[in-house]
Amino acid sequence: LTHGEPLGFRPLREAIAHQIAAERGVRCTADEVLITSGTQASLDLMARLLLDPSDRVWMEDPGYVGITSLLRAHGAEVVGVEVDSDGIDCEVGRRRCRSARLVYVTPSCQFPLGCTLSLQRRLALLDWALEEGAWIFEDDYDSQLRFAGRPLAALQSLDTSGAVIYSNSFNKMLFTSLRLGFLVVPEHLIDAVAAARSVIDRFPSVPDQATLCEFITQGHMEQHMRRMRELYELRFETLMRSARRYLDGFMELSSPGAGLQVIGWLAPGIGEDEAWHQAAEQGISTIALSQLTIDRSMPAGLVLGVGSASVRGISRGVRQLAQVLRRLRSRAP
Ligand SMILES: Cc1ncc(COP(=O)(O)O)c(C=O)c1O
Repeated sequence: LTHGEPLGFRPLREAIAHQIAAERGVRCTADEVLITSGTQASLDLMARLLLDPSDRVWMEDPGYVGITSLLRAHGAEVVGVEVDSDGIDCEVGRRRCRSARLVYVTPSCQFPLGCTLSLQRRLALLDWALEEGAWIFEDDYDSQLRFAGRPLAALQSLDTSGAVIYSNSFNKMLFTSLRLGFLVVPEHLIDAVAAARSVIDRFPSVPDQATLCEFITQGHMEQHMRRMRELYELRFETLMRSARRYLDGFMELSSPGAGLQVIGWLAPGIGEDEAWHQAAEQGISTIALSQLTIDRSMPAGLVLGVGSASVRGISRGVRQLAQVLRRLRSRAP
């Protein structure tokens, strides 16, 4: 009932250090783990400490709009670096803007494209960070939700120079309203991070952390993740099966690899904005790909998520989406 530690509840930090070493190959002790309210708060804290106004930040393009907005709110100049099927390409980044203070990446499951950053690109990114004295912010969200291929360990596990700041969030693994996540910070930053934390919001809610700690240490988290993987797999199967049946000719879905969403590429002649608006009017919530791009243009597409839709809701939604797209295509020249 009194003050907690600025880095967070120690038994929870120990449980997390143990779990991410086993599951993600992250090298750390509980002393380098800081509990936050989630990824957004984690990046906010690091941006306050590491960025000056006008600093350049490489950002995956396309990428999560909440992160782009946050970086801009800190006065950073966000430089979009194109992502392809191997993830972010350092060479493209170098050509666009050689030096940057920080790069934001989702190596295990790129948001929104779902690809994995290849080993070669990981090593290139670490080399670049070392050369430029830049920081790498690794958002490892959704890394435990992989449905195809072998998972790669976190980028942090390859880092020998202390450039990677690792972030993950229980808001995806458990539920969005929980508001608990964590950072693994290189040892030489930890005192600064703890000092900053104690003047920003002092420390996170202790009862919430203690409850989560028991959930992890009693083995419920592992069981929960296993069950959720099965459930999400079932939802993806429903989505893909319904799409084959109803969306053929209107929309082609990327295959689910990791994470909770796929891209539905729109057939030529169907406008992205109109499709997004009209789907929303039918109660189908999607993200238009152009809302996530920074400096590039991409073919028209909608991000379709399965995180909060039931199996029945997915098949109904796909049928409604097919009606919307059929109408739009019939009007196309
Ligand atoms: C890629 C990505 N990073 C970060 C976040 C924000 O995470 P949090 O809710 O833990 O702040 C989201 C939220 O959906 C996300 O998709």
